[in-house]
This record gives sequence, structure tokens and C-alpha cells, in this order.
Amino acid sequence: MTDFKLFYKKYVPQVDHFLETNLAEKVEDKKISQIMSYSVMAGGKRLRPLLFLSVLKTFQIPIDQHMLQTASGIELIHTYSLIHDDLPAMDNDDYRRGKLTSHKKWGEAEAILAGDALLPMGIQWIAEGSEKIDLVKVISEAVGPNGMVGGQYLDIDSTNNASRSQDDDFINRMEWLKTGCLIQASLRMGGIQAKISSDDMQHLMGFSRAFGRAYQIYDDLVDVVQTSQEAGKATHKDQAEGKNNTLTLLGLNQSRQELKTLIERANREADFLPDPLLKGFLTLYQKVL
Ligand code: IPE
Ligand code: IPE
Ligand code: MG
Ligand code: MG
Ligand code: MG
Repeated sequence: MTDFKLFYKKYVPQVDHFLETNLAEKVEDKKISQIMSYSVMAGGKRLRPLLFLSVLKTFQIPIDQHMLQTASGIELIHTYSLIHDDLPAMDNDDYRRGKLTSHKKWGEAEAILAGDALLPMGIQWIAEGSEKIDLVKVISEAVGPNGMVGGQYLDIDSTNNASRSQDDDFINRMEWLKTGCLIQASLRMGGIQAKISSDDMQHLMGFSRAFGRAYQIYDDLVDVVQTSQEAGKATHKDQAEGKNNTLTLLGLNQSRQELKTLIERANREADFLPDPLLKGFLTLYQKVL
């Protein structure tokens, strides 16, 4: 098995265990704890916490319970974004991570509140785990109006809206904000925690720009090439719903080409890092190529 696969196999269960026990113990009301846990523990690739932990491993920083808490905090924030993304007022989806979406299972008010609860708890876990104020700044900026929520706004505003420009600058910007920013933040937080040099940070950010941009293209491709069973969520939906994304702009072949170019770019940046571990994450994209 590659180092990457071993790393994934080792740390996904540790992140899962941290999430499950702490959501049960740290949320006083058992019902909202259950609603939050339902979506967090439904599965998911744990990509963002694993990216954070991989940077620590790359720079030989030990992964202890504190680092697992910070990593898990990132996953809470990501899960909040999924719960709200699926709401009837947004993408109106019934399935996520192979299960009913939060609002389908518990009701709309409950899903909104579960998301509202996961966001600050995620920030709290990041702060408690790391004790570095810079990590809190990085994550807050990445998921706010100049990051993820800003991108989600552009997505909603451009859906079925011909007056919104839909050129590649717009699509690049929207997809970077809604998905790339949180991925980049997860890597940057690892770099800050590991106190890496500015040279190393430059290459890590170069990797994150290519990998993070590629991730939404991968997700857009999942919508057209995978079954809903494989994806754990509805597929073949983006075009029908009037979504503007890389796929609807460029078509299948050109989107795949763009993804390949980004993979090469990410690989080149990772060549400068002291460990090839991060390159392993690029294997995820093979599923849609
Ligand atoms: C899906 O994220 C939403 C996007 C930002 C593209 P993931 O593909 O990481 O979903 P999970 O966490 O594995 O469910
Ligand atoms: C979601 O993008 C990005 C988020 C910030 C949640 P999508 O709407 O394409 O994600 P899926 O396909 O529902 O997972
Ligand atoms: Mg969406
Ligand atoms: Mg969606
Ligand atoms: Mg999608």
C-alpha cells in the first residue's frame, strides 16, 4: 500500500472517533447533538481534515489529540456547508453521503440550526486544538463572504440567471470561492501550525491553488459521470437545475483536460515539499478522468 493509503487508513478512523465521541459529549442537548451527528457521521471522505493532518506529517509534526481536534473542527464546518447547501432554498437535495439530507430527516428548521451549531463549534475546536489565533483568522476568512459563503452566493445568484456573466473568469472565481478556499485554508492551517518557511508555504499554496480549483471540477464531473449510488447524492442534476459550472461551460472533454492540467501543476508544486504524501490526494481525481 502507498504511504498515502496507509495514512488515510490510519487517520480517518481517528478523526471519525474524535467527531463521534465529542459531538456526543460536548453538546448538552441530546436531540440537537443527534441531529448534528447524523450528518457529520454519515460518512464523507474527510478530505479537509486529512489535508491538514498531511501537512503536519509532511513537516514531521506529531499528530496528537489536539491536532485531531483542530482537524475535526474543519470537518464540522464543512458539514455545516453541506447541510445548508442541500436546503430547499438552495440546491434542494434529498440525499447526501448516502443518506437522507438533514432537512428531509429532521425538518428544515432543525437542519438550519444544526448547520448554525456546527459552524461556531468547528471554530471553537480549531481554536482549542491549536491555540494559534492565526488559524482562527484563516478559517474565518475562508468560509465568510470573501470565501465559501461568497462563492455559494455567486452560485445561487447565477443559477438560471442569464444576466449574470457566465464566462470562465466568473466560473473560476465562483468555484474557487465556494470550494477552493476551504481546501486552501486546511492546507495553510497545517503550514502555520508546523511553522514552515515562507518558501515551503509558497509551494504549499501553489499546490493548494491547483488542488482546490481541481476539486470543484472533480465534483462537477461527479455530477455527470457517476450514479447517485456511487456519489451518495443526486447526480445528473446540475445542468437541469440551471447551474453554471465548469462542465456546463466547457463540456466533458475540456473539463477533463482542465482537471489534468491542474493535477500536473499540483504535482509540480508538491515536488518541492519534503514528503510526497500530498500527491496521494490527487489519485482521487482518477475516478472521473
Ligand atoms: C462536496 O464535498 C461539496 C464540495 C465542496 C464539492 P466533498 O466531496 O468533500 O464531500 P464529502 O465530505 O466527501 O461528503
Ligand atoms: C457545494 O457545491 C459547495 C459547498 C460549499 C457546499 P455543490 O452544490 O456542487 O456540492 P454538491 O454537489 O451538492 O456536493
Ligand atoms: Mg451548491
Ligand atoms: Mg449542492
Ligand atoms: Mg456538485
